[in-house]
Amino acid sequence: MIGNVTLGMIEFFGNDRRRIAHALKVYAYAVTIAELEGLSPEKRDMTAMAALLHDVGVRIAEEKYGSCTFRQQEEMGPAAAAEILSARNIAPAFIDRIKFLIAHHHSPQAGEDIDFRILLEADFLVNFEEEDIPLTSVELTAQKHFRTKSGLPYCGLCFLLHSLQQPHLPGYNKGRKGRRTHIRHRHSEKDPLYAEKHWQND
Ligand SMILES: [Fe+2]
Ligand SMILES: [Fe+2]
Repeated sequence: MIGNVTLGMIEFFGNDRRRIAHALKVYAYAVTIAELEGLSPEKRDMTAMAALLHDVGVRIAEEKYGSCTFRQQEEMGPAAAAEILSARNIAPAFIDRIKFLIAHHHSPQAGEDIDFRILLEADFLVNFEEEDIPLTSVELTAQKHFRTKSGLPYCGLCFLLHSLQQPHLPGYNKGRKGRRTHIRHRHSEKDPLYAEKHWQND
């Protein structure tokens, strides 16, 4: 089921390698957090499919308008995702929930349900890395928006932000301190809300 949806996503994005890689990374983070949070296999699969398809609205908006805002992604993504999913016989109840998740994936205030928070956290984690976000901004944004038990320490582990880490997270290792100095940043460290401003809708 997930394999088929993955192929559908790749087919949908065609030769847009960057979008395909982005979706696969968000998917990987989402299934990891979903497992750490103890989601049922069914809910984990649904969250995984939402992660794979969360940005399909980007292609539709770019084709229509030549560019794409976060709001347009949220508006145009659900229908495109539903088409991919129903062609693969995914249950209508799954599709409805995935449409909701995609319709709000740049609106952190839209809900507190765990599947929604996992998608947000996974997308944040990938965007922190892809956009080379300053560590001060990663830290503040994660503290403000991450809600799952494992998302915050996972972020701490990925970016070596020890303030976010907790010893209970699998893989926690105080000994990796030094790596942080190898992370380079294009953006100014002076704006701690950089990540948030460049990611979410008002
Ligand atoms: Fe997006
Ligand atoms: Fe995304």
